[in-house]
Amino acid sequence: MSRELTLFEAVLVLFLTLFNNSHGYFLPAGSVGIGFNGYFTLTNTTKHTHGQAFDSEPLSFTNPSTNLTTSFSINFFFAIVPEHNNQGSHGMAFVISPTRGLPGASSDQYLGIFNETTNGKSSNNVIAIELDIHKDQEFGDIDDNHVGININDMRSVVSASAGYYDDEDGQFKNLSLISRNVMRLSIVYSQPDQQLNVTLFPAEISVPPRKPLLSLNQDLSPYLLEEMYLGFTASTGSVGAVHYMMGWFIVGEISYPSLEFGRQPNLPPYPKKASHRTRTVLAVCLTVSVIAAFIALWFGLVFYLRHKKVKEVLEEWEIQYGPHRFAYKELSNATKGFKEKQLLGRGGFGQVYRGTLPGSDAEIAVKRTSHDSRQGMREFLAEISTIGRLRHPNLVRLLGYCRHKEHLYLVYDFMPNGSLDKYLYRNGENQERLTWETRFKIIKDVASALLYLHQEWVQVIIHRDIKPANVLIDHEMNARLGDFGLAKLYDQGFDPQTSKVAGTFGYIAPELLRTGRATTSTDVYAFGLVMLEVVCGRRLIERRAVENEEVLVDWIVELWEKGEDILDAAEENIRQEQNRGQVELVLKLGVLCSHQGVSIRPAMSTVMQFLNGVSQLPDNLLDVMRDEKLRGLPETSMEMLLGLNSSTFTHSLVSHGR
Ligand SMILES: *[C@@H]1O[C@H](CO)[C@@H](O)[C@H](O)[C@H]1NC(C)=O
Ligand SMILES: *[C@@H]1O[C@H](CO)[C@@H](O)[C@H](O)[C@H]1NC(C)=O
Ligand SMILES: *[C@@H]1O[C@H](CO)[C@@H](O)[C@H](O)[C@H]1NC(C)=O
Ligand SMILES: *[C@@H]1O[C@H](CO)[C@@H](O)[C@H](O)[C@H]1NC(C)=O
Ligand SMILES: *[C@@H]1O[C@H](CO)[C@@H](O)[C@H](O)[C@H]1NC(C)=O
Repeated sequence: MSRELTLFEAVLVLFLTLFNNSHGYFLPAGSVGIGFNGYFTLTNTTKHTHGQAFDSEPLSFTNPSTNLTTSFSINFFFAIVPEHNNQGSHGMAFVISPTRGLPGASSDQYLGIFNETTNGKSSNNVIAIELDIHKDQEFGDIDDNHVGININDMRSVVSASAGYYDDEDGQFKNLSLISRNVMRLSIVYSQPDQQLNVTLFPAEISVPPRKPLLSLNQDLSPYLLEEMYLGFTASTGSVGAVHYMMGWFIVGEISYPSLEFGRQPNLPPYPKKASHRTRTVLAVCLTVSVIAAFIALWFGLVFYLRHKKVKEVLEEWEIQYGPHRFAYKELSNATKGFKEKQLLGRGGFGQVYRGTLPGSDAEIAVKRTSHDSRQGMREFLAEISTIGRLRHPNLVRLLGYCRHKEHLYLVYDFMPNGSLDKYLYRNGENQERLTWETRFKIIKDVASALLYLHQEWVQVIIHRDIKPANVLIDHEMNARLGDFGLAKLYDQGFDPQTSKVAGTFGYIAPELLRTGRATTSTDVYAFGLVMLEVVCGRRLIERRAVENEEVLVDWIVELWEKGEDILDAAEENIRQEQNRGQVELVLKLGVLCSHQGVSIRPAMSTVMQFLNGVSQLPDNLLDVMRDEKLRGLPETSMEMLLGLNSSTFTHSLVSHGR
C-alpha cells in the first residue's frame, strides 16, 4: 500500500541509523553501506561503481480528494569526501523514480541514475537533483561543482555553481561540494505555482536561505505518477569519493523547516589501502562511533521535538493523528499580534483572525479560544482530531493548531468570500444577489460534504451545527462546510454518548431536543432548512407583513398543500421559468429533509441522487409526508417506501447502531 504524502500523515523524519536495514526502509544496492556516524555511504572506495538507496515504500504525490498533484518539501543532509583534496569523482543525486531502484544504471557520469540507452528517454519519468562534481562536456555541465535539476536526462534543465545567497547581505557565497563538510539540500515544489526551488546551504544554517540557488518554473505533475519512490544515488569513476547522506525530511506541503544540525562532524579521511590489522581496529572504532552516534542522534531528535513543542503537551490523539503544530510566534506574526483589525468574527467559543503565514503568503484564518474553559477544550480536541484527518474539496481544511498559555489556536485555510449567511440575508446593503446556478452549486457542494461525513468516511461523522454561517465560500465560489466544533466522532455500531444538546436554535431537529441524541438524520434536518434558506434568501423565522409567511417552512408547505405556486416563496431574482424544475426540486427536498418525522427524512446519498437528477421525487410525496403512521417507523424507512437504493438503508442501520 502506498503512503500518502499529506499534511497530517506527513512522512516525517526518516533517520538513517544503523537499524534502518533491518527495518526495511531502504533498499541499498551496489556499494551502499553504513558509514561514519550512522551516515549512509552511497559509494565505497571501489572505482567505477555506483550505489543506490531507495525508500522501501512508494509515495503518492496525489491528493486523493482532488486528484491533483500535491506540493512537497524535501530536506536532507549530505557530504562528499573525495580521494584527492581538490578532485572528486562524479557526484550524487536525489531521485524521484517510478521504480524502487533504477535497474541497469551506470556509474561514472551517469551517477547511478541512467545508462547510455535509457538516458534522455521520456519514458524514464525520473526527476533528479544532481550534486555533480565532474564537468562532463557531453551533458553540457557548467563546471565541476554544480547543482542541477534533471528530468529524464543527465543534461540538466537548469544548473548553477554550488553556493547560496546569504540572507544577511544577499551576497552569493561559494560552496565546495567536495569540502568534506556536511551540507543541506532543500527542495520545495509548489504545485499551484508550478515552481521547483532548490537551495543548497551549510548544515549549520538552520533555516533555508530565502533566495534559492535554482528555481525551475515547470509543472512536474506529468512526471509524478500515481506512485513514486524516493532515493539517492552516487557513482565513482577513475577517481574515488565516499558519498554520505543522512537524515531526510519529507512533507507533503510547502515548508522550510528549521533543523538544528549542531557542530560539523569530522568525517574520516578517504580510506587508504588498509592492512588487515588496521582494518580490525577501524571496524571496532566504527562500531563504537556508530553506537555513540546513535545515542547522539536520539538526543538530537528528542531535543528537536522539545524545541518544536515548547511548553506544550503531547496528547494521545496527537500521536495518533499528528496534525501540524504551529509555533505561537508564527501565528502571532501572521495575524500581526492578533490585532483587532485582523478580526474576522466571533464564533461560538472564540474569535477568528485573518493572517498571512510569513514566507509563504498563504492566507489563513486563525481561531482562538480559551484553554481554561473545559467545554471549549473538549470541543476543540474533537474538532482537531476529526478535521485533521478529513480531506474533501467541500470541507474547510484544517492546516494545524497551536497551544499557547491559556489559549488554543486552530489554523484554517482562509476563505476570502466569507460565509453563506452574508449572501442570503438582506442587510439593507445593496449587495449582489446570487444567481440560481451559484445557489444550486452551493447546495450540491454542502450535500457532497455531508455525504462524505455521513457515509463515505470510515467512521460516521455528525456535523451537529449545520447552518449558513458554517458554510464558507472560497475564491471560486465553491461552498465548504466548516466549524466542526460540535462534531463528534463515533465508531460505527456505537451510540454517540451525548449528554447535552448542542446546535443552533432553529436548526435543531425535534427528536434531538427530546432524546439528546444527534444522528445523521438531525444533520439532514438542518441541511433541509439550509436548502430552503438558500432558495428563499431569508431567515427561517422573519417578521413579515403577512403572518403566514413568518415561518419559512410552514409557508412553503402551505403553498404546496394549497396547490399554489411554490416558487412564490423563492427569492425574486431566481423566480424564472427556466429555473422552475430545479427550484421546485430543492424546495420540496428541503421540506422533506426538514420533516418532523425522522423516518421521513432521506439519507444524504438519497438527497444526492435527487439533486443530481438520478432519482425523481415521487409524485405522492405530500401524501407520504402527511402519513402519521410513518412517524413511528425507524429512521430512513423513506428509502424503502420510495424503493430506493437499499444499500443506503443497510448502511444507515449499521451506522446508527442499536
Ligand atoms: C564496495 O562495494 C562493492 C559493491 O557492493 C563491494 O563488492 C566491495 O567489496 C566494497 N568494497 C569495500 C572496500 O568495502
Ligand atoms: C479521482 O480519480 C479516480 C480514478 O480516476 C476517480 O475514481 C475519482 O472519482 C476521482 N476523484 C475526484 C475527487 O475527482
Ligand atoms: C540500460 O538500462 C536498461 C533498463 O534497465 C537495460 O535494459 C539496458 O540493458 C541497459 N543498457 C546498458 C547499455 O547497460
Ligand atoms: C566563486 O566561484 C566562482 C566560480 O567558480 C569564482 O569565479 C569566484 O572567484 C569564487 N568566489 C569566491 C569568493 O571564492
Ligand atoms: C522560489 O523562490 C522564489 C524566489 O525567491 C520565491 O519567490 C518563491 O516563492 C519560491 N517558491 C517556492 C515554491 O518555494
